[in-house]
Amino acid sequence: MHGLPQLDLPPLTGASGTVRLPGSKSISNRVLLLAGLAAGTTELHDVLTSDDTQVMLDALRTLGCGVESGARASWRIRGLGGRLAVHTADLFLGNAGTAMRPLAAALALLATTQGGSFTLRGVPRMHERPIGDLVDALRPLGCTIDALGTPGFPPLRLRGEAGGRLQLEQPIRVRGDVSSQFLTALLLALPLVAEAHDIAVEVHGELISRPYIEITLALLARFGIAVRRCGDARFVIPQGASYRSPGSLHVEGDASSASYFIAVGAIAAAGGAPVRLEGVGSDSIQGDIAFVDAARAMGAQVACGPGWIEARRGRWPLAGITIDANHIPDAAMTLAMMALYADGPTRITGIASWRVKETDRIAAMATELRKLGATVVAGADFIEVAPPPAPGAWRAAAIATYDDHRMAMCASLAAFNPLAGAHVPLRILEPRCVAKTFPDYFEALLGLAQAASADVPVLAIDGPTASGKGTLAAATAGALGFHLLDSGALYRATGLAAGWDGVALDDEERLAALAATLDLRFGQGDASGRIWLRGREVSDALRLEATGLAASRVSALPAVRRALHGLQLAFRRPPGLVADGRDMGSVVFPDAALKVFLTASVAERAERRHKQLISKGISSNIADLRADLEARDERDRRRAVAPLKPAADALLLDNSQLDIDASVSCVLGWWQERSPFERARERQARAGEMAPP
Ligand code: C5P
Repeated sequence: MHGLPQLDLPPLTGASGTVRLPGSKSISNRVLLLAGLAAGTTELHDVLTSDDTQVMLDALRTLGCGVESGARASWRIRGLGGRLAVHTADLFLGNAGTAMRPLAAALALLATTQGGSFTLRGVPRMHERPIGDLVDALRPLGCTIDALGTPGFPPLRLRGEAGGRLQLEQPIRVRGDVSSQFLTALLLALPLVAEAHDIAVEVHGELISRPYIEITLALLARFGIAVRRCGDARFVIPQGASYRSPGSLHVEGDASSASYFIAVGAIAAAGGAPVRLEGVGSDSIQGDIAFVDAARAMGAQVACGPGWIEARRGRWPLAGITIDANHIPDAAMTLAMMALYADGPTRITGIASWRVKETDRIAAMATELRKLGATVVAGADFIEVAPPPAPGAWRAAAIATYDDHRMAMCASLAAFNPLAGAHVPLRILEPRCVAKTFPDYFEALLGLAQAASADVPVLAIDGPTASGKGTLAAATAGALGFHLLDSGALYRATGLAAGWDGVALDDEERLAALAATLDLRFGQGDASGRIWLRGREVSDALRLEATGLAASRVSALPAVRRALHGLQLAFRRPPGLVADGRDMGSVVFPDAALKVFLTASVAERAERRHKQLISKGISSNIADLRADLEARDERDRRRAVAPLKPAADALLLDNSQLDIDASVSCVLGWWQERSPFERARERQARAGEMAPP
């Protein structure tokens, strides 16, 4: 699914259930760095697995820290104890501000005193994100910092000779009004050089995003460093401070990520069960937990306890609010999306920092919300969003995500538009950028969401044995981010279970009973291809020729087909389904948006099956295989129920001469023209032409 170019979401009508949140990005990267600088070994549990933590882990490894992974997102980090193990390194830090800023500060101090040369770089956007205020704070101490590109921005080189001295007698001055990460970087790094005297840091300009500083201070305390503080203006690292590993530390769930699900609860958990979040709650040290108050102000009903939050709909429609969101800059993006469901405009101020995040978030939000039908006014440090003026004003929009995880997660909230009276599908471009902080975001969201079955698109691929349907269906499902139903596996599993239980292959009644109670489980992200029957993995056993023959016989029995019908329908879940078999388009999903009937000559199919068997080390004879295929085709075609034949509206694809990539592109091309999203756009275009000017 990596590199998924787009994800279409059907109109979603409700949500309830439980989500376990991934670890907080802000906490994960801070504790990884602290553990890397401290002496001894620290065990970190529930660390976020994401792009941003990956670059930090890679950097620690490059710098000579011990980095070992354990079970369930835990890591054992053996720290440097403040002594450089490596004196030259080139570190790639992606787009992770939480890695770039603190590592720049720590390595600048270490290179100056212990000697070394370190280059820090990232993706092109990282090279547009400011770091000049941090560099300006460090240079007067005696650090040599070269900007290798535009002054004030990464990439940077930090260098020095062993034995260099730092000027730490005067307070260090840093600006607090562009990013609080500069102050965080200094606070995290300065204990490295505090053996001789107190080190004071003075903040100039108003300190923004203050709650992130609270996280920094709380985590420094866990590592034995008690920073003395005078309000927001002066922080002192006491003389003799040095990092003491807490031994083991648990990372709480990400409060910014929680905001999307609190919003889902407020919008879509009406009447029944709430949306419950586990991993973060009332005891959180993260500032974005204050999003709960903002969501309540808009009408959400939220209950919290230690380590959990439950959200459901309260006031409906939501109330438009005016809020200074300086204290919750990341979660405030979620408020801008909730504004779509409010009864008046929502004005969010104090968000100048949005302009220097993963993208210019004020500009990006304004552009994308307008595409959905909202009216938006944006300024240097505020955004005001008025919802679409009527249900009919909602648009089926393709939302761009700007390589910004939060844009992608925010966008998904627009899919609940039926709850505002609209009914439009949504397209999210480049959705996998959520990997920055929440790789499984869409899986988690869709695990909670409900949609009318008729709105969940189905792409049916039918065809004879060995035509390559399975491969084509899996590749197509991967490219669309859809679920996959290999319906043949259900018949095969019935045949296999019959063998286990000694049921004759013509005992229709007992076979139907077996089929109705099949205890089948499909591997994670069902495209992995692994299948368990009654708790036993049967992925290989299902592919055996003997199992295929048994399947071919049991599938001719009407009672067995009926028994498996409901199970197949249950695969139709948001965002969509690619189903392959013999009768997907003709019987099971007659309303499929696209039906493909795949064929290849018998000679070609026998050839393919032969190669496949050879690759598994099984010898076979082409003539026998061909006779076998013909017999099976014949049985599938002539059976009384659901005989193998193209649905009247199926598109035929003869892939005798096509490789798999060509077949997939052909099917995706057909899908582009027929997907519900495309259809909705066409309807809108027609309505637009007919509307009076
Ligand atoms: O597609 P596969 O070869 O795995 O299917 C195994 C057998 O199950 C086929 O030979 C066919 O007879 C039967 N089948 C069916 N209807 C489906 C899928 C498979 O009858 N939708």
